[in-house]
Amino acid sequence: MLDYDVEAARYDATRGGVPRARSAARAVLALVPEPAGTLLDVGCGTGLVSERLMRPGLRVFGVDASSGMLGAAAGRLGPAVVQGDCRRLPFADDSLDAVSAVWLLHLLPDAPAVVAECARVLRPGGTFVTTVDKDAAHDVHSDVDRLIAPFRVRRANDAASRITAVASEHGLRRVGEARFTGHGQGRSPARMAGDVQRGYFASALLLDEETSGTLVKELALLPDPEVPRGDPVYRLLALRKES
Ligand SMILES: C[S@@+](CC[C@H](N)C(=O)[O-])C[C@H]1O[C@@H](n2cnc3c(N)ncnc32)[C@H](O)[C@@H]1O
Repeated sequence: MLDYDVEAARYDATRGGVPRARSAARAVLALVPEPAGTLLDVGCGTGLVSERLMRPGLRVFGVDASSGMLGAAAGRLGPAVVQGDCRRLPFADDSLDAVSAVWLLHLLPDAPAVVAECARVLRPGGTFVTTVDKDAAHDVHSDVDRLIAPFRVRRANDAASRITAVASEHGLRRVGEARFTGHGQGRSPARMAGDVQRGYFASALLLDEETSGTLVKELALLPDPEVPRGDPVYRLLALRKES
């Protein structure tokens, strides 16, 4: 995983900024029936998305492990952000109306433990909304994607089938899904090469030093090296805690 304390300074500018955050927040809220009461955004990062979940009558909290990311989130959400591990959330059992996790589970080999923890803190009838199959969304059939396809991990941490199965073991039933556009996430060959070199795709691609070097050289041969390819569309699942 990237070092998010280091990543914090460039995070908002490189992850689609407000347009991506707005489309993500809108899709999350569309899956929460009558958003009111409390919502915890797990792995809230800089709070770019969390801030856009705020509504009159809905109190939004954020949890993240990275102090660098939380520094930015605190500026957006104030004292409602707390440093913590999403596998041990600092919230009581059955205490929250909704929990969201945007772009989190794909990073974590022990994603099932996070799903269990989100189920624990949700009240009966509450909703957990999470991105699934995040890395697969980057496969937009461009020339860049064709080059990286052979290196993709076969079993994603956030595979929808895996998350749905684990969720059901913890009393969460799948009730809906939505999609949102990853504005600014369609990569040019040059940007992809830079991201491969700095380990951005550690959870998505199986690369060693040699194969990374070969891939970077092949990316450099593609036409229009600075032109971004199509934006990915990400998938969210809604899971309701049984009453
Ligand atoms: C890709 S960012 C997503 C941030 C935000 N949800 C967004 O969509 O902009 C992933 C975030 O998960 C956080 N994270 C990773 N592992 C974590 C863990 N075990 N507990 C809490 N947060 C974690 C990272 O610090 C980072 O801020």
